Amino acid sequence: MTKSDISLPRIALLATGGTIAGQAGDASKTAGYKAGVVGVDKLLDAVPALTQVAQIHAEQVASIDSKDMSTALWLTLAARVNALLEEDDIDGVVITHGTDTLEETAYLLHLTVKSEKPVVLTAAMRPSTALSADGPLNLLNAVTLAAHDGAAGQGVLVAFNNQIHSARDVTKTSTYAVDAFRTPEFGALGWVQDGRVDFQRGVVRRHTVGSQFDLPAALPAVEIVTSYAGASRTAIDAFVAAGVKGLVVAGTGNGSIHAALQQALADAVKQGVAVVRSSRVGSGHVMRNGAAPDDALGSVSAGTLNPYKARVLLMLSIAAGITDATALQQLFDTY
Ligand code: SIN
Repeated sequence: MTKSDISLPRIALLATGGTIAGQAGDASKTAGYKAGVVGVDKLLDAVPALTQVAQIHAEQVASIDSKDMSTALWLTLAARVNALLEEDDIDGVVITHGTDTLEETAYLLHLTVKSEKPVVLTAAMRPSTALSADGPLNLLNAVTLAAHDGAAGQGVLVAFNNQIHSARDVTKTSTYAVDAFRTPEFGALGWVQDGRVDFQRGVVRRHTVGSQFDLPAALPAVEIVTSYAGASRTAIDAFVAAGVKGLVVAGTGNGSIHAALQQALADAVKQGVAVVRSSRVGSGHVMRNGAAPDDALGSVSAGTLNPYKARVLLMLSIAAGITDATALQQLFDTY
């Protein structure tokens, strides 16, 4: 440590893999690479300017393609984030992650991190070896954001392509574009660029220190089923037979559900399975007793949570012993 960086914020960098740590055989390749192979030291080496922004404590938590993210790794990561944030000499945490399930991990942390210190996830759409790789600038912006006072108390944030998004609402919207992350219904919280951070709005739903959810020892089995033309009840019946504790429906339009699925879901509820209705559309909200009769089905509406985030909230709720539809609806109206 040099004299000049003694006063810089101390940021823990937790690397988990992803395309930001991806490697291709050829710099012109932006597809067909291997994700999660480059170590955290190399990610840091690619961004010399980080030494002007923060003192970094780096850890390699995992080296995976995030399509393979597990609930066990979620719990390990969340526990590590909480432990680091309890330390007086850590001011914030940055997590590098694959883009594919980043929004799910971010929301899990948003509900289970017990600190107001900044937590920022970032990622990349192009591997580290690519011409015009987007990872180094995304990482610099993520650390800049985590080192910024304005990021405290905002819940878990995502820094991507110069934008700041809330973990609750951000979603991946493109398979290859470098502006892949959007908050479809509400827009970004702000921007980070050239060392400047500018928040345009805040986060009002409960999160982090305001969240009632503690990290459980394990997360219950909750699966997602999709409604579409010609859908059958086969998958729902199989999940119920396998002992699933909850089901999220990615419904059509405003959470409407094929008649064949509605009957299967009503049967699932009778067997003690918690059912939440979300939408496969990608934006907009699902209203209680709107396109499907929640009261009759015994289901819960997800509001503006997409199916993947609704699954996270449902898993934490069930793990906390909350399975009654009325109590669950209150949680979905709160978080
Ligand atoms: C991954 O999610 O790990 C691979 C894809 C990506 O990071 O863009």
